Amino acid sequence: MNGFGHRLKELRTERKIGIKPLSRHLGVSHTYISHIENGRATVSDRFISRVARFFKQDKDELKMLVGRMPDDVRKIFYRHPREALHFIRENFPSYQATLSTQLTIPAIATKTIADFPSTRFQGSKLKLLNWLWDNIKNLNFTSALDAFGGTGSVSYLFKTHHKSVAYNDSLRFNYIIGKALIENSSVTLDADDIDFILTKHPTIKYQSVVADNFKNIYFTDEENQWIDQTVQNIVHIKNKHKQALAYFSLFQSCIIKRPYNLFHRKNLYVRLAPVERSFGNKTTWDKPFETHFLNFVKEANNAVFDNEQSCYALNEDAFGLNNHYDLVYIDTPYMNKQGVSVDYYDFYHFLEGLTVYTDWAKQIDYESKHHRLKPRYSVWSDRKAIHQAFQKLFHRFRDSIIVVSYRNDGIPSEDELVRMLKEVKRKVTLVSYGPYKYVLSKNGESKEILLIGE
Ligand SMILES: C[S@@+](CC[C@H](N)C(=O)[O-])C[C@H]1O[C@@H](n2cnc3c(N)ncnc32)[C@H](O)[C@@H]1O
Repeated sequence: MNGFGHRLKELRTERKIGIKPLSRHLGVSHTYISHIENGRATVSDRFISRVARFFKQDKDELKMLVGRMPDDVRKIFYRHPREALHFIRENFPSYQATLSTQLTIPAIATKTIADFPSTRFQGSKLKLLNWLWDNIKNLNFTSALDAFGGTGSVSYLFKTHHKSVAYNDSLRFNYIIGKALIENSSVTLDADDIDFILTKHPTIKYQSVVADNFKNIYFTDEENQWIDQTVQNIVHIKNKHKQALAYFSLFQSCIIKRPYNLFHRKNLYVRLAPVERSFGNKTTWDKPFETHFLNFVKEANNAVFDNEQSCYALNEDAFGLNNHYDLVYIDTPYMNKQGVSVDYYDFYHFLEGLTVYTDWAKQIDYESKHHRLKPRYSVWSDRKAIHQAFQKLFHRFRDSIIVVSYRNDGIPSEDELVRMLKEVKRKVTLVSYGPYKYVLSKNGESKEILLIGE
């Protein structure tokens, strides 16, 4: 991406045109151009064509700068890899030392979705990824926005298929996960990092926010102290991607030790009471934090790879996102037909709190037994506003291919979603997965659906 950003800046300087006038010519915001020039934003093929037209450049040459090969060149590489490499090395001898390691053929991913870590999260699409891919693989796109990213499983799918991916989620802890698994292309946690994270340092003045505010709510006293120490060590890690991997492992360790994998109730007693249980896994709950943490570090490290495209993570409300992507994937919180929705901010407030550790206590709603964060309004929990919210999103991304995941029995209904999508897209396809067992759902009739608007 830097190659393209650099070239764009060069062309702009040669032409003596400022960012703002150029943004008007290209029909995008000036901040977007500035992000591109700094290597912080992905670009669609359509945008590259506009730049090529404006500056009278060859669009294939510009595409090569973001690592996308024109189809004819790609075919040559696939059919004649040896000859193609030989030809390039012969003609560019000064690059020989690095070419052999750097030149890989795009579209051959070094990872598959099987390398995605074992997360436990309401609404994760991990088990549906193969079905999802089967339905979208023939769409023509190179850049994709995962606007409601959650675990990042769908972003990871795109990443393995060599797409340029923007992961987004409005929750900060999810955004950090996106940084660890999607944006991060090369950094892993090594033995020294792990040693630092798991050690008590005399130089750090530890606070006890978890121990003070969550006694007998989710974890034992000893576990609360472990979380306090670990999260404060993580804050001291300078490399942002290493830090994100450590946070990821801490979040997953907290989730796996919770009955129902949620933080919606004060129910430590469920875990500790000496009774027969028909659910959950007491052995997993009682395993030390450190054991879980080390396992998740291993899984997260293994998931890291470079797909040679620009991939990054965002932490925005979906309504404020740029609309410059070839494809936008929309997987909002689900509202059932009684108007009850999944409130992610409430279910996972503990993890969100960990990301604002020193400020956390001020943000707690002490009226609630489980010490959640003070509630926030979400349009996805408002049955009177949810239709309009979908309409607004579809309108915002009307220039992209829109792919929507939902269920057939919610609000809005399947028919309503199709109708709304048809307001902005000529061709709308509806695909149904068939009955799917959702985590914690008692409704076996619910069907997962996919709407594709082209
Ligand atoms: C159904 S989940 C997405 C699951 C995801 N596809 C996966 O495979 O893990 C919905 C996500 O939307 C996020 N979210 C809720 N409101 C949002 C908003 N206004 N903008 C962006 N993200 C939002 C939630 O934090 C949650 O992670």
